[in-house]
Amino acid sequence: MKIAIGSDHGGFHLKEHVKKYLQAQSVEVLDFGTFTEASVDYPDFAEKVGRAVAAGDPKRGILICGTGIGVSIAANKVHGIRAALCADVFSALMSREHNDANILCLGERTLGFGHAEMIVDTWLHGVFQGGRHAARTEKVMKLDKAR
Ligand code: RB5
Repeated sequence: MKIAIGSDHGGFHLKEHVKKYLQAQSVEVLDFGTFTEASVDYPDFAEKVGRAVAAGDPKRGILICGTGIGVSIAANKVHGIRAALCADVFSALMSREHNDANILCLGERTLGFGHAEMIVDTWLHGVFQGGRHAARTEKVMKLDKAR
């Protein structure tokens, strides 16, 4: 499994933590930064991860900022992206099973790191259920194309 990851300064420490957590499970992690605590702009990292995922290499990504809100708004502006901000395990599972989310967004300032690990695990292993949900995500992607 291969995952793109990125954050701004507000998500830097959780990004580093999640990166190590995934690597310990033999997940290949493509780190798009940021690489220090210096203040940066979250749309730049959402764009990098969003474009990589939209191009299909890798197929899924994780974005982190202070709340997860900024990166989720920005990533959803990239064509082909279905980014889901999740602050609980149930939402993480539904974002995969019902919404086929290809980017998970997390907030470093809103989540404990242990909770974030559980959300990441759930999201990584959640499987899109297709069927009626596929018809709905297709409608969502039509909106994306019509912009
Ligand atoms: C940075 O201070 C903060 O605004 C950013 O990380 C994020 O929470 C924005 O949505």
